[in-house]
Amino acid sequence: MCGIVAYVGGGRALPVLLEGLKRLEYRGYDSAGVAVTSLNEGDVGATSVCRAVGRVSVLEDRLDAGGGDGFDGHLGIAHTRWATHGKVTEANAHPHQGTAEGGANIALVHNGTIENYAALRKLLEKKGHAFTSETDTEVLAKLVAELYDPDNEHALETAVQSALREVTGAYAIAVTCDAEPFTLVAARKGSPLIVGIADGGYVVASDGSAIVSHTSRAVTLDDYQVVRLSAGPANTSGSDKAWAAPLHTTTIDNVKVTHEVTELELELEQIELGGYEHFMLKEIMEQPDSVRTCLRGRVDTRDGRIVLGGLNALSRELVRAKRFILTGQGTAYHAGLIGEYLFEDLAKVPARAVYASEFRYRNPIIEDGSVIVPISQSGETADTLAALQEAKDRGALSLGCVNVVGSTMARETDAGVYLRVGPEIGVASTKAFVGQVAVLTMLALYMGRRRVLAHSSVEDFLTHLDRVPDHIAAIVQQSDEIKQRTADVVDRENWLFLGRGYNYPVALEGALKLKEISYIHAEGMPAAEMKHGPIALIDEGMPVVFIATRGSQYDKVVSNIEEVKARGGRILAVATEGDTDIERYADAVFPVPDVPEPLQPLLTVIPLQLLSYHAAVLRGHDVDKPRNLAKSVTVE
Ligand code: F6R
Repeated sequence: MCGIVAYVGGGRALPVLLEGLKRLEYRGYDSAGVAVTSLNEGDVGATSVCRAVGRVSVLEDRLDAGGGDGFDGHLGIAHTRWATHGKVTEANAHPHQGTAEGGANIALVHNGTIENYAALRKLLEKKGHAFTSETDTEVLAKLVAELYDPDNEHALETAVQSALREVTGAYAIAVTCDAEPFTLVAARKGSPLIVGIADGGYVVASDGSAIVSHTSRAVTLDDYQVVRLSAGPANTSGSDKAWAAPLHTTTIDNVKVTHEVTELELELEQIELGGYEHFMLKEIMEQPDSVRTCLRGRVDTRDGRIVLGGLNALSRELVRAKRFILTGQGTAYHAGLIGEYLFEDLAKVPARAVYASEFRYRNPIIEDGSVIVPISQSGETADTLAALQEAKDRGALSLGCVNVVGSTMARETDAGVYLRVGPEIGVASTKAFVGQVAVLTMLALYMGRRRVLAHSSVEDFLTHLDRVPDHIAAIVQQSDEIKQRTADVVDRENWLFLGRGYNYPVALEGALKLKEISYIHAEGMPAAEMKHGPIALIDEGMPVVFIATRGSQYDKVVSNIEEVKARGGRILAVATEGDTDIERYADAVFPVPDVPEPLQPLLTVIPLQLLSYHAAVLRGHDVDKPRNLAKSVTVE
């Protein structure tokens, strides 16, 4: 949610910033902007700003139209926005600026929300600062300017520290000042920020995707940390080569902190389209491999056991745990609901899936032996992080089910199991969902084996689990067929998704996928629930998607199908391969291989992902950047 990229060093800043913005665009894409500080003789420190409503390409066109004048400096900050405070206008786009007494110009980009911005704005207005936007970010820029004292040795760093001590809320920021043309200051609290250590300079960004083409060496900032980065091109510090001073990290209280340099676990090809039209399609299609990687080394079919290295230190506590709270938002919450079934069914341990946003504010009861499992692709979702913190504060053990390595959630949990599905760029989550379900399945089996399950039944599950990647490979082959079937009904504006048991959360997920990228209204629910009201919606030709695989509730689902059929609904069914009976009722059937019920969600969701993808493309939408959405929701 909002992307930040900033550069200081021996090279030109603008190309680094624009490339970074394009890579980060999935985090927000309603407007974008850059500020570059000049080093030209006679013009040193002059800051040029360009902002535009729309995609990064609009900003690029505007810069091109201006011939690049003023934008050839070596220090710059840039931002791609997902609006929180203030409409989508050029005035509200970042960077925002402030003028210090004495004339120094501050430019700042921000991800997050400043909660006390209204009070601060009033105060700053009284002191004579004139605001040009409705944003909380401009308040922060003006506050840094207000506190800027040119007599301080590191004036910008000091002003940023002082300003951040005054604000409440969440932020990742990058800041420049025209009086310090070789210095970039960045800080974070509650929103991610990474500093890439490149040859002769630094690239700061919201995530590794904007850094990895320059360097794989990086420092992940922690909450309340401020970093000062100084670098420049040849002949700017008496040297005939580009130079970069060591990075300097402090807290907002100016206490020096040591930082750890780590390797980014990211390959360039993972974040490129690689011939696919959209990231979402690429990510659906690569699921045979991503699930294989997720399971590799963890599913030991020979010895019939699950090996989860990250849990070794806590295995006794987990086996003795009395209750699991599975928490997340959106798609991750749906994975949690499947986890609820898995944990209770396979490990016979009470488990509840809860929306993190509800859990955090409802004064939750945490008994002895409770374990909180935050589920998240990004590991940065604000509500999920807050729920984790709330449960930890009340004494729960925490176990992360997270994709992004080194993310805040991964670092804040006592132990965890990474999804290992690779970066997910498409805003609609697909491979991360299947990764989350795969990890929860392994966790349930891991505990089940130690609590209630016989070796032979675990062995049986593992044999099936091991084949899941091949099954997914067979399902994605149906993409063209699913596209054709979707085309028949894509003009309908209201859909239902119905399933029972393990496939009820899959119905919820199918509906979410369809609505978020194709803007079709869709509802998911337990198939039995339909008769308690929603059946009134069904009219001639209304698409109703059933997950109707063979299993304990198959006959009941078939009865529900008949009820819809009798009212003229158009049935699309995800069914077990070889089930010819279902063809009598369904207008379209998407077959999936036969696996034990607990493993079905790993397969039944795949046709629904393809269906929603094709529906959105057929309706002419930008699948990877759906309206009003952005990836990684770092605000409440
Ligand atoms: C839907 C989607 C969202 C996310 C949710 C949580 O396709 O992507 O519903 O699942 O915002 O995000 P993470 O998993 O990053 O915590």
